[in-house]
Amino acid sequence: MSEQDDQIFLKRFSLVIVALAIFAVIIIFVALQFHRQLGQHESPTRTQQVAERIAPVAGVYAGETGRAAAMAAAEAAQADEAPQVAFDGSLDGEMIYNNVCAACHNSGAAGAPMLVASDWTDRMPQGEDTLVQHAIDGIGTMPAKGGRMDLSDEQVRASVEYMLAEIE
Ligand code: HEC
Repeated sequence: MSEQDDQIFLKRFSLVIVALAIFAVIIIFVALQFHRQLGQHESPTRTQQVAERIAPVAGVYAGETGRAAAMAAAEAAQADEAPQVAFDGSLDGEMIYNNVCAACHNSGAAGAPMLVASDWTDRMPQGEDTLVQHAIDGIGTMPAKGGRMDLSDEQVRASVEYMLAEIE
């Protein structure tokens, strides 16, 4: 093989190398172009998982708007916890008496004092506050709050006041 043959070989060989290099660069650009066109494919589940992981543990309320939001949240939480009050919290003693207490106190069932003075001569001297407290806690065979635990203490007081006013 002559020196001239070697030179021709080298020339062609470097041409092939250069052509391959250019081809490689073109392929890289084409690939980049495709990559951009296809965009990010994130699975929705994965996106959600990431959002959950980086979500704040607790809300931070700042400033006036924050205070209002915090109060609203606290009130909502309280409303969920607060037990339902009977008769929407009505303090109508007569209505509560007729719905709850009358069952026993009109008939004298189980020895319940009826709305006549003679049934109360021994009870009256205790004073209204004690009578109310006994009605709230229950006494003898009378269940606490006449069995309506959803009555508030104020509602029981209102019905006792009604009873005492009705006693003849
Ligand atoms: C299940 C029957 C029953 C119901 C319902 C009932 N009571 Fe009574 N109540 C009684 C009985 C029985 C007594 C007498 C208890 C005793 O002295 O041993 C009594 C006693 C009382 C007394 C007198 C307590 C005292 O210290 O002497 C008051 C006041 C009273 N009841 C209020 C009420 C009110 C108010 C309600 C309705 C919210 C009510 N009761 C519902 C059965 C009942």
